[in-house]
Amino acid sequence: MCGIVGVIGREDASTVLLHGLSKLEYRGYDSAGLYVNGAGQDYLVKRVGRIQALKDAVGPEVQGTMGIGHTRWATNGEPTVANAHPHQSQDGRFYLVHNGVITNAAKLKQTYLQNVTLASQTDTEVVVQLIALFAQEGLSAKAALRKTLSLLEGSYAFALADRTAPDILYAAKKQSPLLVGLGNGFNVIASDAMAMIDQTHQFLELNDGELVTLTAQAVTIEDAAGTPVKRDPITIELDAQETEKGAYPYYMLKEVSEQPAVMRRLLRRYTKGASLQFDVKLLAALKDADQLYIVAAGTSYHAGLVGQALFEQLAGVRTTAFLASEFAYHQPLLSQKPFFIFLTQSGETADLRQVLVQINAKNLPSLTMTNVLTATLAREATFALDLAAGPEIAVASTKAYTAQVALEALLAKALGAAKGQAAAKAFDVEHELSLAATGQQALIDQQSAIHELAKEMFATTRNAFFIGRGTDYYVSLESALKLKEISYVQAEGFAAGELKHGTIALIEPGTPVVAIITDPTTAARTRSNAEEVEARGGKVLRIVAESLAEPGDDLIVPALNPLLSPLLTIVPAQLLAYYTSLDRGYDVDRPRNLAKSVTVE
Ligand code: F6R
Repeated sequence: MCGIVGVIGREDASTVLLHGLSKLEYRGYDSAGLYVNGAGQDYLVKRVGRIQALKDAVGPEVQGTMGIGHTRWATNGEPTVANAHPHQSQDGRFYLVHNGVITNAAKLKQTYLQNVTLASQTDTEVVVQLIALFAQEGLSAKAALRKTLSLLEGSYAFALADRTAPDILYAAKKQSPLLVGLGNGFNVIASDAMAMIDQTHQFLELNDGELVTLTAQAVTIEDAAGTPVKRDPITIELDAQETEKGAYPYYMLKEVSEQPAVMRRLLRRYTKGASLQFDVKLLAALKDADQLYIVAAGTSYHAGLVGQALFEQLAGVRTTAFLASEFAYHQPLLSQKPFFIFLTQSGETADLRQVLVQINAKNLPSLTMTNVLTATLAREATFALDLAAGPEIAVASTKAYTAQVALEALLAKALGAAKGQAAAKAFDVEHELSLAATGQQALIDQQSAIHELAKEMFATTRNAFFIGRGTDYYVSLESALKLKEISYVQAEGFAAGELKHGTIALIEPGTPVVAIITDPTTAARTRSNAEEVEARGGKVLRIVAESLAEPGDDLIVPALNPLLSPLLTIVPAQLLAYYTSLDRGYDVDRPRNLAKSVTVE
């Protein structure tokens, strides 16, 4: 949902910005731009398309000592050069990049800018024109920015350059992510640490409403009232290599392949000897709850559905997974002692934040499980746990999903054990997760065979179905999402038993249906449903647990406790989606219309 970067105090500002933007491209890739200033020269370059188009357009002369940059996922206004950031004030003095949405932009335009003809259709341009207006009325650049911020409704992370003061950069944040990076003789800002991790490991976190002034030597933070804020830097240990594709053609394949390592990392992180390592206060709060509410979106919601079964069966606590975008506005009746679990790879999803704000207003306890511990949802929840999946860059989420399921299993086991639940005692989570890692590797090693299956099943199809029961149904939902988001096949995940209640009407000769069968209690029934599909000419691919395998099954997944079977069955589904997208010639990592971090509601 747009990424922003800024730098001050470097001779090679464009290079730093372009590198940072390429690391933020996962946040949006409709258009990009940068503004640099130095040695009496300044440059504004904007292009529609990927960062590469911007890189191609930035000649060697485009350098400076300060600058700001932006990669866009369009919200207001189409992806055009005019709508690309940085936006410039009409007097040519200010340049602004923005991540977020200003919801009262139209009203502000009407109130303050009636005589200004805007060059773009964006909310951001209204903001930069307002800053310029207040500066023309006599305010300093900082005061003009502060006054403008006080008028804005919505979300923003801003970086502002003043053409007349190239030794200062301003930044501000509300509800959109922004970090300040501290360098030696220079400073940077970015939507996330990955963008600047090759420049520094020292970062300052920012709170909503804060305004930052950066020079080459210093960073000052002020709260909304203008009072200076002292903040200690944090060290972010992210290996710059982790953000590279290495020998893989796409991040998605790299991230699918990393899943066994993520399982092992989670085991190292959350176990010590035979015991599980969780904050005692977290376990006490969970123990105290009479119902767990898992709140998530997209793939993370699908991981939450699996978590529902894990917490109910291992910890004996009523658990329900909710779509954040629905929960925020159609809240169910809450139990007496609710506990909220926010599942989120990015930690920035606006739909979840909306719920967290409501929960916090009621002083209810919460936990965010996220891959980015510096993210807003981690900082604003009562507790936070690290998914430890490592940076996930492909837009389609893979290793974060399996990390979420594995971490839910570890926590459910710890909670169940703390509550003396027999099911938890009998569930050897360490052994199961080790088996899962080995099983995932065995499936990844079959990627050529899975590629062939992808060709047979999905080469030219326009639609597809994934069916299963119980946890297999939840994996069907996730499998269908993977296929549709990167290969644009209209895919649906279906409860196998529900197909006959209407949707089977869509099965025609050749319609691809993937049946996931890992639960001994329902295997026979799902097999019957698959046969019903075949009887109508549908083409069925069966993904089956080893213990339930029968001759003719297409893909066998190794033995694992059925509660954790999603850790295995999702792997071939991820690879089926990957190869279908690849064979259709799409950009696997950057599917159309999507962005990784969804910071609008
Ligand atoms: C799909 C995908 C999305 C995200 C969803 C929530 O592959 O990545 O469906 O899962 O936007 O994002 P997070 O987990 O960052 O809250």
